[in-house]
Amino acid sequence: MGKPVSTASGPLSGEISVPGDKSISHRALMLGAVAVGETRIHGLLEGEDVLATAAALGAMGVRVEKDANAIWTVDGVGLGGLSQPEQDLDMGNSGTAARLLMGLVGGHEITATFVGDKSLSSRPMKRVAEPLTQMGISFENEKNDYCLPLTMRGTGQPIPTRYTLPVASAQVKSAVMLAGLSSPGITTVIEPHPTRDHTEKMLTALGADIKINDMAGGGREILLNGQPELSAVEITVPGDISSAAFPIVAALIVPGSKITLKNVGLNPLRTGIVDSLLEMGGDIKITNQHLEAGEDVGDLVVRASTLKGIIIPASRAPSMIDEYPILAMAAALASGTTRMEGVGELRVKESDRLAAVESGLKLCGAVVRSGPDWMEIDGSGGNKVSGGATVKTHLDHRIAMAFLVLGLVAKEPIGVDDGAPMDTSFPGFIGLMNALGSNMSRD
Ligand code: S3P
Repeated sequence: MGKPVSTASGPLSGEISVPGDKSISHRALMLGAVAVGETRIHGLLEGEDVLATAAALGAMGVRVEKDANAIWTVDGVGLGGLSQPEQDLDMGNSGTAARLLMGLVGGHEITATFVGDKSLSSRPMKRVAEPLTQMGISFENEKNDYCLPLTMRGTGQPIPTRYTLPVASAQVKSAVMLAGLSSPGITTVIEPHPTRDHTEKMLTALGADIKINDMAGGGREILLNGQPELSAVEITVPGDISSAAFPIVAALIVPGSKITLKNVGLNPLRTGIVDSLLEMGGDIKITNQHLEAGEDVGDLVVRASTLKGIIIPASRAPSMIDEYPILAMAAALASGTTRMEGVGELRVKESDRLAAVESGLKLCGAVVRSGPDWMEIDGSGGNKVSGGATVKTHLDHRIAMAFLVLGLVAKEPIGVDDGAPMDTSFPGFIGLMNALGSNMSRD
């Protein structure tokens, strides 16, 4: 895909399902790979990030296949059963694939070199290498900076560890737990600020012995008993709230819109975006809420709304960490100022998202200020932004989709310099948005 462009649109309407949750899809493949038996996965996200995980597992001897009904099956090799890959493991653009697989593969007698695209190769891996090193897994790379390409030497017997997360990161937590699966003892992860708990939920469903203790001050202590027998289960992946956030904000800001999103994952540790948009005055109704394989799921009905600026506290960051770029677009249309606090982690995502959002919004006529870990956006009070710019996406899918949504309420079209990254998490984004009535061209 070349350079998509988005142009002011009339009201959005209709009912859609967004693609499967990226975090749950990675975990379904990885845990299915080390379970005993055949894991069947419904609704797997067929985005490039998840396909990178599938290919890496294939390179380590796991049969991963899609049948004629789009159900994916993983033929589990059992814990400790991954085999030495003959080639580098290419993680593409995916931090989740790289970090979680370092944990899972690290619990095997395997030496593997992880490689990735330009964006991933500049992202910090020391945050996983550090706890994994404590567990007896070693890392080396040419520059000694723990960035990809990075060679890891795993061990079949990781040392049980007790690790307190220095950053609120579900990827680091999951990497330690996945290595801990092979460990002959109890692995403990302490997270001062709870992060998405898909790994804990799925491992529990597969039969692992996990205890979660709430701590004073809101943190959690997670204890995993090593070397469990994991049994394959049937997994249904809900729609990704992080993808749903784009049509949700689009419907809120395009006057007269009303859309319904079916079967969206509503894990309470992921729904900070809904809380923030409701606080801004967004009309979002949750219906048909139920549990599916331990995960909360529901339908969302979203109507165009008059939004106002809010202060988003640092404590909410882990539960909406990937949604700040699209929240920033809503803020640009709100009345008053929106302030995001404690968002320094956004600087080490697929791009420096604070910088990418700030420069893109300024190009489109918005007023933005930022610091190392905060950002403020003065909204237009519901008036169209000027637009008329091509925004740099820096290999970041969420920057591309956020600005294409903003183009729906801009006086002049907004383009993005590279649409290809959208396929990492949301294949078919433009087609789905246009089915709702938006005006985006694929080029
Ligand atoms: C993810 C955790 C988050 C998130 C990423 C997916 C996961 O990253 O940004 O898109 O699946 O565990 P961090 O753990 O680095 O915050």
